[in-house]
Amino acid sequence: MQRQGPGSDATTRNLAQKVMSLCPLERILDMGCGKGASALVLARETQAQVLALDNHQPFVDALQEAAVAEGLDQITAIIGSMDELDKITGTFDLIWSEGSAYIIGYEQALKLWRPLLTETGYLFISDLVQLSDELAPEARTYLEQEGVKFENMDDRVQQAKALGYQLIESFILPQQDWLDFYADMEQQIKRLEPEVGKDHPALISLSQEIDIYRHFGHQFGYACLLMQKAGGSDGVEQ
Ligand SMILES: C[S@@+](CC[C@H](N)C(=O)[O-])C[C@H]1O[C@@H](n2cnc3c(N)ncnc32)[C@H](O)[C@@H]1O
Repeated sequence: MQRQGPGSDATTRNLAQKVMSLCPLERILDMGCGKGASALVLARETQAQVLALDNHQPFVDALQEAAVAEGLDQITAIIGSMDELDKITGTFDLIWSEGSAYIIGYEQALKLWRPLLTETGYLFISDLVQLSDELAPEARTYLEQEGVKFENMDDRVQQAKALGYQLIESFILPQQDWLDFYADMEQQIKRLEPEVGKDHPALISLSQEIDIYRHFGHQFGYACLLMQKAGGSDGVEQ
């Protein structure tokens, strides 16, 4: 797939421009970068050095190749884990995480990544939240199996404040970004069916995910949170 999670170049570009209007960006860290959908946009828009990290070698290789092909030599893609930060040196003006923080947990990401930010550094996270009071059991069961912890946008904002960040901007990822993501997924499923068989467990699971979005997608979405490190010791309530 072109992207490994819902999002779009336009959404990334708009936010990158917003952060650039707030402070000069010299170093950016993209956590769980996948094939680099966001890292490539960030490098094009900002001219900053972009360190992109993922624990899946084929994604890291794909990003490095795309960066070389485009002449974006300010991108460095490395293999690593979002919660084992020994390979990462120095601090960053911006840490970016599209759809990846949930893997180690939103609050854990806020705590672990805070020391990697400059004193006034920014953090962007997109993370799944419940949008309505009602959440269909089918959607809850499927998404919880995938490791999603359901809360709402207000919970996310309160957690950020408690962990030493101030909120700069928040919005819900546009529905079109989700529709484009699942259109790509559907095409890839069709492409793979003759090769691996229609009953391959991975294809069944992905088709189920698409169905859940089509039926219940209005009940959940990605909270997009741009925040800035606030004063005080790392991880201490402000
Ligand atoms: C939902 S995808 C999002 C990818 C990318 N940010 C995007 O929007 O296209 C999550 C990514 O996190 C990576 N990942 C999973 N566990 C990880 C870990 N512990 N450390 C680093 N990356 C991880 C996966 O390989 C995958 O590329």
